[in-house]
Amino acid sequence: MQQLGVIILAAGRGKRMRSDRPKVVHCLNGVPLILYPLGIAQELKPAKIVAVVGYGAEEVKRACGEEEITWVVQNEQLGTGHAVLCARETFTDFSGDLLILSGDVPLITGSTLASLVRHHREQKSTVTLLTAHLEEPFGYGRILRDSTGHVVRITEERDANESEKKIDEVNAGIYAVACEFLFTALKGLTNNNQQGEFYLPDIVGEAARSKKRIETVVMAHPQEILGINAREELAMMERSLQEKINRRLMESGVTLKDPLTTYIEERVTVGKDSVIGPNTHLSGRTVLGERCQIDGNAYVVDSRFGDDVHLKFNVVINGCDAADGVEVGPFAHIRPGTELKGNVHIGSFVEVKNSTVGNGTKANHLSYIGDTVIGQESNIGAGTITCNYDGFDKHRTTIGDRVQVGSNTQFVAPVAVGNDAYIGAGSTVTRDVPPGALALSRVAQKHIAGWVERFRQMHRKK
Ligand code: UD1
Ligand code: CA
Repeated sequence: MQQLGVIILAAGRGKRMRSDRPKVVHCLNGVPLILYPLGIAQELKPAKIVAVVGYGAEEVKRACGEEEITWVVQNEQLGTGHAVLCARETFTDFSGDLLILSGDVPLITGSTLASLVRHHREQKSTVTLLTAHLEEPFGYGRILRDSTGHVVRITEERDANESEKKIDEVNAGIYAVACEFLFTALKGLTNNNQQGEFYLPDIVGEAARSKKRIETVVMAHPQEILGINAREELAMMERSLQEKINRRLMESGVTLKDPLTTYIEERVTVGKDSVIGPNTHLSGRTVLGERCQIDGNAYVVDSRFGDDVHLKFNVVINGCDAADGVEVGPFAHIRPGTELKGNVHIGSFVEVKNSTVGNGTKANHLSYIGDTVIGQESNIGAGTITCNYDGFDKHRTTIGDRVQVGSNTQFVAPVAVGNDAYIGAGSTVTRDVPPGALALSRVAQKHIAGWVERFRQMHRKK
């Protein structure tokens, strides 16, 4: 069995992005560009994955997290050919084929790459190129063929003459190459071109000159090979990716009331018969169950919801774990570390952070619940605040089952309330409340008879 190695080119700055950040860390649908080819490369289970980084190398490495990659640094960006040459040392005791991917071509699929490698091997080819016919080939390297259809070389947009510019078959920047030939050919490259760079595609001309076999796999769906060089392309690709995700969701039984304003990231899953309203953003590792309803204006990150959950208009939810039948909103803010058990209701202008709320408990109006554990079937009255922060440390509030918290209550944490307790409205709770007790901490009400009339007369005299 021949070995397969992968090289991902990601050292360029991406000048056309006009960014201080390296191009490949810009996000497409919430995921840094570099992670797209990387993920696909991993699917192929190659012997080795080498990424060539240079501009903003540390930031690119960070974006890749814990992935198993051999990093190679191209200190000066002298061109794609030079970039691949930088990886030579990592393939000294390697014999087989190298698959070269571009960090800025995100939509390429595993099956396309698998068929590229398969074709390369079946044909015993030296260089196999992925190409496509584009309606607008501008900016891409063009494939030059002789009268018999054999590839003779590739010319870059900036080096092409007028008739070459009319060629609509473009180089995807993705190649399967015999390892030995590759590094020999790269050593012979020159930078005698408009950009003064060492072009990787020039190995194709070299292969033709030395009568090596050159094969092409022409893509039926050119979408896959589109590269990102500028922000406008990023936005357009974001839109087409979004359309694809939306279509997939609708096909799987999800209703999107306004697909044009529905932004759902790749990794999100939504269960059947869920209905999603306009201006909904679901991102990260969000999971939504079946028959859920999102009214609209929802911004949801890394959260899990069971079935039959209802998110009413205007909610911001991050890092929430909600069971079946939960209702949130309108106008609610759920922050990381929140667990909402079955049928919990979190209502308008309620913020919950790092708290667990038990089955059937309700906090329907104007509350802040932070660093708190609440049992089941309790009711948190309007205007309840957990005072969890003393300027230095956060403290916990614990509220039991079936507790009735009167409106406008403050819990000065750390404090605990036993099961079945009642808190009188307007109380400031500073000490633990025993189970079954009524806690009252407000000043007793008194009446001063005739006070109003005396007050008025005093003013009339003035
Ligand atoms: C490249 C190809 C072009 C092809 C197109 C497809 C070259 C010379 N041209 O052009 O034929 O049609 O891709 O998308 O290869 N990079 C480095 N080091 C460098 C330069 C670039 O690592 O010194 C990396 C970039 O980070 C990027 C990739 O190589 O990920 C491609 O570079 P880019 O400058 O975008 O090449 P294109 O002009 O798009
Ligand atoms: Ca490019």
